[in-house]
Amino acid sequence: MNEQYMLELFEQAQGEYVSGEWLSSQLGVSRTAVWKQIRKLQDAGYTFEASRKLGYRLVGKPIRLTLAELLPHLGTRVFGRNLKLFDEVDSTQNIAARLAEGNAPEGTLVIAEQQLNGRGRLGRAWVSPKGKGVYMSLILRPTIPLPYTPQLTLLVAVALCRALKQLTGLAIGIKWPNDLLIEGKKISGILLESYAEEERLRYVIAGIGIGVNLDKQDYPEEMLQHATSLKIAMGQEVSRTAVITGFMQELESMYELYNQEGFGPIKSLWEALSVSLFQPSVLTTPMGQQVAGIPIGLSDIGALLIRKPDNEVVAVFSAEMGNPAR
Ligand code: BTN
Repeated sequence: MNEQYMLELFEQAQGEYVSGEWLSSQLGVSRTAVWKQIRKLQDAGYTFEASRKLGYRLVGKPIRLTLAELLPHLGTRVFGRNLKLFDEVDSTQNIAARLAEGNAPEGTLVIAEQQLNGRGRLGRAWVSPKGKGVYMSLILRPTIPLPYTPQLTLLVAVALCRALKQLTGLAIGIKWPNDLLIEGKKISGILLESYAEEERLRYVIAGIGIGVNLDKQDYPEEMLQHATSLKIAMGQEVSRTAVITGFMQELESMYELYNQEGFGPIKSLWEALSVSLFQPSVLTTPMGQQVAGIPIGLSDIGALLIRKPDNEVVAVFSAEMGNPAR
């Protein structure tokens, strides 16, 4: 059945009810087929009101991201100026990496309405339901030594935290290294993938996933305890265009600051926004080694400094952070 034709019938009705019977006669299909088509449209972000007596009426359309809306509001010099919007991708990380290999310039931004295989840190999947979140990957071509790349992860977290706080007024903090939390629940994730050759950094793909308008039912049951969205936290929808454009402006400013003054200012901003410092923690490194102690700050190159119970301070670059068992 033609989905577009059904939508046109609803458009013509201008928000008034149309009966299931009338729809089925217009479309030449059964009432069950009409109902299935409405379910499909709901999955795509359309909202309907249903009445046993009157039928259905269209009350909301998906708010798709468009170049026409995004570009005039970007307010950046470089970031997002080469903007690629997709409906459905496996992962925006893969698209951006392919573009980077084809010499796409720094600041090229790939955004998708939906990811079928969105990936998170440590090989986890990233829940990416259609039209509800922001799923994007930005190409960076920094001229920094390879070991400094973790600094960029912290920089992206600072920019995102500042942009979202400004937009929503919510109390958002950074959990080391780069998760953003509202009342202990994660609202966004950042995944930096670096491509290097003979110890030289060629480019970095900064992948950012933000739970903007996800509802509770969009999360797998086991995630609900640990994840939330801006919509859940605010009790109202948030413009994804405003999230993207606000973040791009902040990120470009932070990146310029970093290129001019190095990591110092970013380190201070990160420490001020962090909710991980001075909380007893256990870090599990990728090699499975555990470090327990109190995080006291960042080192000058971006490692987390942990004061162990014997007062020795160690620097940790990459690990999963948890609370000690009580
Ligand atoms: C994390 O585990 O916290 C990082 C999640 C990163 C998800 C984003 S969504 C856009 C980009 N594409 C992906 O496949 N992953 C990143």
